[in-house]
Amino acid sequence: MMEAKNFQLFPETASSIANQVDALYVFLVLVSAFFSLLIAFVVVFFAIKYRHRPENGPPIAHAEEEHGVGGMILEIVWSVIPLLLSLVMFGWGAAIFFTESRPPADSMEIYVTGKQWMWKIQHMEGAREINELHVPIDRDIKLTMTSEDVIHDFYVPAFRTKADVVPGKYVVEWFKPTKIGAYHIFCAEYCGTKHSGMIGTVYVMSQADFDKWLGAGGGEGSMAEQGQSLFNQLGCGNCHPSLVNDNNGRCPNLNNLFGSQVDLKDGSRVRADESYIRESILYPQAKIVAGYDDIMPTFKGLITEDGMLKLIEYVKSLGPPAGVVDRATPLPVETSTSPNPSTHMLPQGKTAPQPKTAPRPAPAPQGNQ
Ligand code: CUA
Repeated sequence: MMEAKNFQLFPETASSIANQVDALYVFLVLVSAFFSLLIAFVVVFFAIKYRHRPENGPPIAHAEEEHGVGGMILEIVWSVIPLLLSLVMFGWGAAIFFTESRPPADSMEIYVTGKQWMWKIQHMEGAREINELHVPIDRDIKLTMTSEDVIHDFYVPAFRTKADVVPGKYVVEWFKPTKIGAYHIFCAEYCGTKHSGMIGTVYVMSQADFDKWLGAGGGEGSMAEQGQSLFNQLGCGNCHPSLVNDNNGRCPNLNNLFGSQVDLKDGSRVRADESYIRESILYPQAKIVAGYDDIMPTFKGLITEDGMLKLIEYVKSLGPPAGVVDRATPLPVETSTSPNPSTHMLPQGKTAPQPKTAPRPAPAPQGNQ
């Protein structure tokens, strides 16, 4: 027999947004329940009240009976009230949606890769886990997620947060855990035979416990450091200059690139975010930086999704400093329409491969691996 305390209408509320989502949900349920009952009552009531009685003779067709002003008012009332109610639902839902889709600027970043049928989690500091996610309490946590194969969906009911994890792009989800404990992770998008087994656990810990946990794991260096070794391994430094103001390489300088606006050969501009960097590595010809030639080979098939995240973290670590750029505050777009607006890039015509004059200094701390 099921005990009463095991019966829960709602999952635990363990994030800052959970109560807001529940409030909206309760509102929707109450409005639906009210109108369902009202309509059911009216159907039954009128069916009885206007039922056919034999003493009235055969039913009469009332085609052109007066529906005058009274009918008009009734029509307006039952159109306008639902309209207002729907607008409240829309406004309220949109407000929560906007909150949920904009991670605060100083969020702690964690990467998630979905794969048939597991969740791979990668912390900036290097710790990695599978089907488990350890986070500190009362911190904004931003998950940057992608998939290695099909569409998955990262869902933590206790946080009331959920997002499709799509191959070939980065999706962001954030939450602020407010209660220490262990909570379910589900895959909420059918992704094949073992979809139902693609589950895991979020552990919300005190900051002290989390630091201890983080210190115990890892050993391979931070993500950025691992990205740097991969960068060297793949020979990226042969073309991309490593010194901050060196623009004589055959390929664009990656220092201070992340988050900036990049001028492209075709005159358009693009923001250097995760997706741009990913695309430039896999499809280098897709967006050529103004002043450079289409000479970079594709690295498609040579880098795993995990490796890609490490490379991106490495590029991020080259600046600008974390926190300067965030999704929530769009960068001011310069209005320059001049065809040659780039001052920090090579001018057109100086694109020929430059022989390296001096051996490149090995890019900073040669970490692990
Ligand atoms: Cu992954 Cu369902």
